[in-house]
Amino acid sequence: MSSPGSPDGSQPWLHQRGREIQGFGTVRQFPIGLSSDTRMYSCERLNRVLADTQILYPLYKKYHWLMRGPTFYQLHLLLDKHAGEQLALVDMLAERVQTLGGVAVGDPRHVAEITRVPRPPNGAEEVPAMLSRLLEAHELILIDAHDAAKRIGEMGDDGSNDLLVSNVIRTGELQAWFLAEHLVEVPLVRT
Ligand SMILES: [Fe+2]
Repeated sequence: MSSPGSPDGSQPWLHQRGREIQGFGTVRQFPIGLSSDTRMYSCERLNRVLADTQILYPLYKKYHWLMRGPTFYQLHLLLDKHAGEQLALVDMLAERVQTLGGVAVGDPRHVAEITRVPRPPNGAEEVPAMLSRLLEAHELILIDAHDAAKRIGEMGDDGSNDLLVSNVIRTGELQAWFLAEHLVEVPLVRT
């Protein structure tokens, strides 16, 4: 039976709006043995890495699409593989923020306000320049992740420290290696 004023039968309630029930930058109290201050700090640092990773992911897709030249196929596939791995990190980071009682940055327009990864031109650049941008984004994230992991670890948040070290840093370092090898000038046919 429907209550007064509600739609009848199976009609969904549409066009609903409500107040914000948790503000960005706040944490709820979860019984996981970590203080509110520790969780607040971890969420702030994780959200920054999350925002940068949310930019690195589409940057990889952009260059996966815009790739060109004799190594097109190899780089087209490699960049897509890296994109997929970065997307997995996005989910891990966001869910870690939620695990700590925080609010993960999600909307791309909010992400753009937080990230420090420089915006590339909307068009295509030469291949080495596109690869260089990816490497620079990796290093920016890695420097931040090392610092965040150290401080977060000192505050006792071992889970976030592990995520940053085992996933963000290890993945980023490996991807940077694979990219950097494409910027080494070596003879392909004759020495
Ligand atoms: Fe594709």
